[in-house]
Amino acid sequence: MAQLFTKDTQAIFWNNNTSAIQRMLDYDFVIGRKTPSVAAIVAPTGDSKFQKFFWGGDEIMVPLFKNTAEARKAFPKADVLLNFGSFRTAYDVTMEALHIGGFKTIMITAEGIPERLARGMNAKARNLGVTVIGPATVGAIAPGAFKIANIGGTIENIINSKLHRAGSCGLVTRSGGLFNELSNIIAINADGIAEGVAIGGDRFVGSVFIDNLLRMQDNPEVKYMLLLGEVGGTEEYKVIEAIKDGRITKPIIAWCIGTIAKYYSSGVQFGHAGASANAERETADAKNKAMAEAGMFVPSSFNDLPNKIAEVYGKLKAEGVIGEITEPVINAIPSVRKSKNFICTISDDRGDEATYAGFPISSVATPDTGKGIGDVISLLWFKKQYPKWATQFIETVIKTVADHGPAVSGAHNAKVTARAGKSVVESLVTGLLTIGPRFGGAIDGAAEHFKYADDNNLSPAEFLNHMKKLGIPIPGIGHRIKSLRNPDLRVVGLKKYAAEHFPSTPLLDYALTVEQLTTSKKDNLILNVDGTIGILMVDMWRALGYSEEEINEFISSGTLNAFFIAGRTIGFIGHVLDEKRLAMPMYRHPMDDILYQVDMAEEIQ
Ligand code: ACO
Ligand code: LMR
Repeated sequence: MAQLFTKDTQAIFWNNNTSAIQRMLDYDFVIGRKTPSVAAIVAPTGDSKFQKFFWGGDEIMVPLFKNTAEARKAFPKADVLLNFGSFRTAYDVTMEALHIGGFKTIMITAEGIPERLARGMNAKARNLGVTVIGPATVGAIAPGAFKIANIGGTIENIINSKLHRAGSCGLVTRSGGLFNELSNIIAINADGIAEGVAIGGDRFVGSVFIDNLLRMQDNPEVKYMLLLGEVGGTEEYKVIEAIKDGRITKPIIAWCIGTIAKYYSSGVQFGHAGASANAERETADAKNKAMAEAGMFVPSSFNDLPNKIAEVYGKLKAEGVIGEITEPVINAIPSVRKSKNFICTISDDRGDEATYAGFPISSVATPDTGKGIGDVISLLWFKKQYPKWATQFIETVIKTVADHGPAVSGAHNAKVTARAGKSVVESLVTGLLTIGPRFGGAIDGAAEHFKYADDNNLSPAEFLNHMKKLGIPIPGIGHRIKSLRNPDLRVVGLKKYAAEHFPSTPLLDYALTVEQLTTSKKDNLILNVDGTIGILMVDMWRALGYSEEEINEFISSGTLNAFFIAGRTIGFIGHVLDEKRLAMPMYRHPMDDILYQVDMAEEIQ
């Protein structure tokens, strides 16, 4: 892998660190990336499903996951893990990611992971061929392609340091602060950087100088390298070896910092765990001398480094190794951005014609489109175009439950309300509000409990026992007037449709075994219309490839009762219009139909 990151690289960001993620997305927008560099966020303690971020002046939603495995499964192409866990969790998060697999690069920001753990973690990653950047780092950047979190600083700094587009230097430092400083120096004295990595300040970091420089040697965008070493450790000697044995041939400008006070007037932080010399050859002076002897371009002091960069760059340019860069057009981020209060993911009315899940209304509305109400429901409720057998099942359900006469509780309430002089909508909602666990609203419950029983391999008797313990009647079982002797032909029709059109009906098959047991106790304890719909919807979704998790979510969010609500709305409106048409007077319930048993109120002192 010659290039660490490309313009298509996407990351999973562990921890919902919104400001760092926003910086990445701002960078993406400025450089004109097509896809956001953060594909998903792992937020173990959050309850939300997504986080909104600005994308230029607009907003996008980045999905949130509870754990790395789920995020990885949902975004298999996101092969970078940005581990922003604290020093307490960063090790476990990395080890888990290595175990899950599929990550090419893992960046660890935490400082202070115990050294014993860091060594084991780095060794494991190395064995698996995973590049670890850090611990204790601000990360890395491939200018014009992908930038990790806060590296490079603000967008203004990034543009000033020419980090918004590729230059020709490969930059490797330990410190993030000095990385930013050097990017700026390189931008002033040369044409910017092609790839840069701050390897991190801990004593045991994953990828070391040599790993990064060898990759840069193979990266054709990198024409020369800049290595900023540090007092302590012997990593610089590995680079010297690579030059000596010919693995590195590109020019390297190198400097090892160490006698900091001598060279800097202010503002640079030193305090890396690795920054102390345990032997003479680990001192900055010894390393600078050895690097110069190996043919690296070593300035006489840090202050002389800019001149050295200008010199090496100028030479390579004169030799034609480095060409001219055409400065790219960059997108500007609006100075005022407003976060949106509402989100809509199902329809869009901003164009000439409104759309349902991307389909213009005219493409689904008229008969010649071949689409019906089932298609419209599949688009607007599920954001998917279901196959014909499924959309026609939905349509069959809607038509089947549209009405069941005036005597059922919801229709009755709608009629009474209409007769009290209320409008269509007021009367309708009165009827709709009657829908619940006993009337029409047992569909969710039926799906939930039958699915639970089937998932847990409960025999019908065990299921009945289980429900008895819960203390609720089995949703989807029982009817006031329908029974074995007076079968509900709606149920017969739905079952027939499923038998003819569904690929399979495992949950219905199970429910029918339960029905056998309940009807053996009492013949009106049939699988009723609510039960049949709920159970067949689960069979439909399974056949359509939904995961169990998605189906459970449909059930818990009340999606199934919605089919009854949508269908019965047609009937309730019919009853309300019927009342209006007949100009029926105000209804008063006959008193002889009410048992009055009102005692004298007790006095309270
Ligand atoms: N599960 C287990 N036992 C039941 C169930 C059930 N779903 N329904 C009734 N029973 C039992 C009762 O506990 C009663 O037992 P008992 O005789 O030992 O006391 C016996 O069966 C008789 O019950 P009934 O009172 O005759 O039933 P009723 O006709 O009053 O109830 C109803 C009908 C409300 C539909 C009921 O069966 C029920 O609550 N079912 C579950 C909810 C449901 O599915 N509703 C949707 C109906 S379809 C629709 O509205 C579109
Ligand atoms: C309905 O569809 O409203 C019912 O099945 C309820 C009933 O009592 O008929």
